[in-house]
Amino acid sequence: MAEAAVVYATRTGNSRALAEHIALALGTRAFRIEDRVPRSGLWGYVRAGFQASTKKASPIGDPGVDLRTADRVVIVQPIWASSVVPPIRTWLLAHASELVGKRIGLFTVSKGGDPELVRKAFESEFMRPDVFGHVMESDTQAVKEAACARFAEEISGGR
Ligand SMILES: Cc1cc2nc3c(=O)[nH]c(=O)nc-3n(C[C@H](O)[C@H](O)[C@H](O)COP(=O)(O)O)c2cc1C
Repeated sequence: MAEAAVVYATRTGNSRALAEHIALALGTRAFRIEDRVPRSGLWGYVRAGFQASTKKASPIGDPGVDLRTADRVVIVQPIWASSVVPPIRTWLLAHASELVGKRIGLFTVSKGGDPELVRKAFESEFMRPDVFGHVMESDTQAVKEAACARFAEEISGGR
């Protein structure tokens, strides 16, 4: 039976927690795309924002998810400068041909910036996500879990 694949990138852990909720709801596990660029401290933050807004693809540790058996692929990321974050960009470029024909979900978390901007950025650089979800870092746990559950249900489309 076809499965769902869940990948995420995170700097401070919010995207990981969300990816794990979504993965649990989809009966799978979440795989981290390791960001190999130092992102801590002021310079790490500034570099992250610069690389995101200039559409950089930065070095990653690829979790090597087997996408052949997946019919749904979920990508979870924080919003940096309203953009696709560099480690996710690298992963998407590396796996573009494997993603063709699959149902794609994008789920983001931010401090409050307009999520529609990142949805549009994702669509113009890569593909139109079939399902899009978003929470704010400050949302309660209950709101976040409900958003993850809705998203998982929507990407599975009644499966
Ligand atoms: C470089 C950088 C740029 C950011 N840009 C935005 C932004 O444009 N809008 C926003 O609402 N939050 C922005 N944030 C905040 C993150 O999206 C937010 O803290 C998120 O919860 C972090 O997720 P993580 O714990 O998975 O790394 C930015 C954070 C960083 C590090």
